Amino acid sequence: MAALLDIRHLTVQFSTQGRLTKAAGDLSFVIAPGEVLGLVGESGSGKSVTSLAMMRLLPPQARTSGEILFSNGTGSARDLLQLAEAEMRGLRGTAITMIFQEPMTALNPVMRVGDQIAEAVVAHGGGSKNDAWDRAVAAMNDVAIADPARRARDYPHQLSGGMRQRIMIAMAIVNRPQLLIADEPTTALDVTIQAQILELLAGLRSRFNLAMLFISHDLAVVSQVADRVAVMYAGALAELGSKRDIFHAPAHPYTRGLLKAVPTLRSDRTRPLETIEGTVPAAHAAPPGCPFEPRCDFRIAECAQSLPPVVEVAPGHWARCPVVNQQGL
Ligand SMILES: Nc1ncnc2c1ncn2[C@@H]1O[C@H](COP(=O)(O)OP(=O)(O)O)[C@@H](O)[C@H]1O
Ligand code: SF4
Ligand SMILES: [Mg+2]
Repeated sequence: MAALLDIRHLTVQFSTQGRLTKAAGDLSFVIAPGEVLGLVGESGSGKSVTSLAMMRLLPPQARTSGEILFSNGTGSARDLLQLAEAEMRGLRGTAITMIFQEPMTALNPVMRVGDQIAEAVVAHGGGSKNDAWDRAVAAMNDVAIADPARRARDYPHQLSGGMRQRIMIAMAIVNRPQLLIADEPTTALDVTIQAQILELLAGLRSRFNLAMLFISHDLAVVSQVADRVAVMYAGALAELGSKRDIFHAPAHPYTRGLLKAVPTLRSDRTRPLETIEGTVPAAHAAPPGCPFEPRCDFRIAECAQSLPPVVEVAPGHWARCPVVNQQGL
């Protein structure tokens, strides 16, 4: 099946004080229609920058290169980075939508939530105000808000955090997108509500054949929704594979470290979880070789010299670590 989204060699650099620093480098991945790709990595690894590049919402000091090919099923793929701003506005909020970690900052505190969803419909030519209101209420019903016609008249502060995130999701699906980018959509929520939101997203995905880029720093959360998983480290893709590849046959030392830090039902809760020593290098301090080298238990001398190539470990399973894979470690 043709890809819905085909990202090729995406690189984002920021120009600060006359210096260019790389926040995301040479990223390539595809998302098929209706597929959920999980994007995981520690804070600062370039996940949000990648998603904002896809939406063309990066600040002006960002320099973006590569291709972001989006195919909405009606004709050939178009490179989002080359579209005129007016064309991009036509896709953003309709074919491609996004939800963020903190719904309170994304919602207007002095506007009824129903009007905010309806506004998203009207902004994209969705008919009269009454029709838009009806569609907003229907979208609130889609995200399992009880008594949506009444709740639509509430202001954001009258709703709980979980309900506000449902409103954001309603706003993101009301125009029936093909691709939803969810950037840490459950990070600000407590565990019970998080589980409900993940279940909701999984349901919407199958109901509307919605493809998703699901971003989280938490591998356990990603495992609940993703079909395939991309692991980012210091702005580069460390590993990409099916959920099974990543969780049962991780090929990159960083992924293995992340997995050890994920609690499972089987782990001994009396022992502290393992963590990976050290921190992600800052964008401007990235070493010339493998970015994970300073923290890696498997490193050899060559690792510090140049960026290692990506190797295909198995069909559809790639890792940027030749060492582990050539030596069968
Ligand atoms: N507007 C900006 N100007 C300069 N650097 C930025 C900007 N936004 C993000 N960065 C840098 O890009 C890198 C990746 O950030 P981000 O994508 O937000 O990480 P993540 O979402 O994985 O936590 C970080 O080093 C961050 O400091
Ligand atoms: S390339 Fe070398 S330093 Fe990087 S992850 Fe593999 S073994 Fe470790
Ligand atoms: Mg982020």
